[in-house]
Amino acid sequence: MLTTMPTTPALADALTAVETEIGRLATSSRVPVVNEFAGRITSAGGKRLRSVVLLGGVLALSGRVPDQAVTAAACVELLHAGSLVHDDLMDDAAERRGVRTVNAEWGPGPAVLVGDFMLARASQAALDTVSPFAAGRLAEAVADLVDGQVLEVLDLYDAHRSPDGALRSVALKTGALFRVGCVLAAHCAGVPDGGEVAVRLAEYGEHFGLLFQILDDLLDLASTAEQVGKPVGNDIRQGVYTFPLLRALTGAQRELLAERGRSLADEELARLLAELRAGDLVPETLAYCRSLAAQTTRALPEVADSAALDVLRRLPAAHLDWAASRLG
Ligand code: FPP
Ligand code: MG
Repeated sequence: MLTTMPTTPALADALTAVETEIGRLATSSRVPVVNEFAGRITSAGGKRLRSVVLLGGVLALSGRVPDQAVTAAACVELLHAGSLVHDDLMDDAAERRGVRTVNAEWGPGPAVLVGDFMLARASQAALDTVSPFAAGRLAEAVADLVDGQVLEVLDLYDAHRSPDGALRSVALKTGALFRVGCVLAAHCAGVPDGGEVAVRLAEYGEHFGLLFQILDDLLDLASTAEQVGKPVGNDIRQGVYTFPLLRALTGAQRELLAERGRSLADEELARLLAELRAGDLVPETLAYCRSLAAQTTRALPEVADSAALDVLRRLPAAHLDWAASRLG
């Protein structure tokens, strides 16, 4: 199935400007090897959905993309990429977006430092170029990401983790960055911080983040490495029992994970994944996500209709279709 993400010419132009800004910030170390690794992860692609949501938001609210919004989007992407450098280290992952990870290529210590460099440059750009408000909200989001990630670590290999527990972690580790992108969109558009329009757009961002992560978790269970650019089945291998998995497990499968989760053989994992794919996992998760996509769109603030607002309206379902087209 061919799926295309909704866009507009103004949004596409702004995304090009964001790409340039990300490249500039990611390669601004005085030490060339830091630039090489930070530049490698930031230029390895990715859908830039956090930027699409932020730029779509600012366009929908103000009809233009001020330079501050371009920097704000680059900051969000840099924080995201920095968190992935740390996440890959925690997961001991060797590949992301089809390229070798910093930890695999250069080692764990340097991966901490490269991630830190990206966080530092994002914070500095937010403070210098956007505003103290923006820098403060981004710092809060980083703390949320850490909390979400820690909640995940605390539940590792817990086959009796509740789906709600998994959602709580996801709202922080992924929802928070989409949410702050929307807060900054409203801020850059000159809409009152904390007013109804900003609050509703932030809610849109948080719901979209949940949708994005649940689909990412589903792809890890029911797609292929070729389709997603990273090995699949990793979450179960790492003991991360995700929302779609926890909702789909039968009693016997849960017992298997409770007893053998830490030492699951490759054949046992392959069999479990095959059983899940043949069962209700995919249709049940897609049904949940369809409802979440509709809820996301409903959260949009009531502002004058525009091509950018239409992008935000169509984005949740378009991303769902994209993910569904990559299921194995
Ligand atoms: C990817 O999710 C990881 C995250 C969304 C958050 C990672 C957060 C941290 C490492 C906390 C520290 C954050 C900063 C900003 C220093 P995933 O592991 O479910 O997805 P994956 O399958 O792509 O790895
Ligand atoms: Mg991970």
